[in-house]
Amino acid sequence: MKRHQDRVIIITGAGRGLGRAYAQRLSAEGARIAVAEIDRAAGRAAVEELRKTGTDAVFIETDVASREGTNKMAAAVLEKWGQIDGLVANAALANSVGGAAYDEISVEEWDRIMQVNVRGTWLTCCAVAPHMQKRKKGSIVTISSDTAMWGSPRLLHYVASKGAVEAFTRAMARELGPDGVRINCAAPGLLNNDATSGVPQAKRDWNIQNRAIQREGTVEDIVGLVSFLLSDEASFITGQLIVADGGLVFH
Ligand SMILES: NC(=O)c1ccc[n+]([C@@H]2O[C@H](COP(=O)([O-])OP(=O)(O)OC[C@H]3O[C@@H](n4cnc5c(N)ncnc54)[C@H](O)[C@@H]3O)[C@@H](O)[C@H]2O)c1
Repeated sequence: MKRHQDRVIIITGAGRGLGRAYAQRLSAEGARIAVAEIDRAAGRAAVEELRKTGTDAVFIETDVASREGTNKMAAAVLEKWGQIDGLVANAALANSVGGAAYDEISVEEWDRIMQVNVRGTWLTCCAVAPHMQKRKKGSIVTISSDTAMWGSPRLLHYVASKGAVEAFTRAMARELGPDGVRINCAAPGLLNNDATSGVPQAKRDWNIQNRAIQREGTVEDIVGLVSFLLSDEASFITGQLIVADGGLVFH
């Protein structure tokens, strides 16, 4: 029996990058996958790829910043499969947000990052968690970044949004725990993937040199953590922040 056999797992932002890698890993472990993604082409391509491996998967065009959108997402999954066992609230604006000093960020940019990264995580959970509470089971993984812990400069809106996701996860764990629903936060370090292609080499080198494990991180370094947190092996773990960054920050 595979770890996530027949479980229904929603992954937001699964059209590319880490979300897509979580989808592949969890499907290989037996899960049925809902790709909730704002980018239609990327979402469809991700589902096509999953189906080629025999996975039962569906694409649901979703803007996590919209309550209507996230409610429709959960309703579509329930209509298709009748249950939701897991959620990875992964969608975020991470790409090309860096570079500006704290007082150079426009109010519009600040609000957009907060809308997707913080409000989006909240609304995604609002749409899914009540169903899990009714069933008295379910596991949610939110996604932060180690930048929230070491205070990566010139990225203030993103860093602040991830700090909010961490605090959100703790408070949600207390609200959901009495109903047997777990929520934990995974915080990757800087990875070598498309989303970080604009990160200057000097910052990349600084990250590597200051890690206990002095190499680049890859999506393969993160997928196992998310799978574990969703699984029954993590049955007594909730409200936790787990950093996977090669030991740049110790938390
Ligand atoms: N890549 C890294 O080095 C790194 C490091 C630490 C944390 N993270 C976090 O991991 C997560 C995924 O990062 P990634 O590198 O795969 O980024 P990415 O930009 O490659 O993927 C993000 C996905 O989210 C989707 N998305 C954006 N806004 C959305 C919205 N409003 N509704 C639904 N989907 C939306 C995008 O279309 C995209 O497919 C993010 O939460 C990011 O902050 C990434």
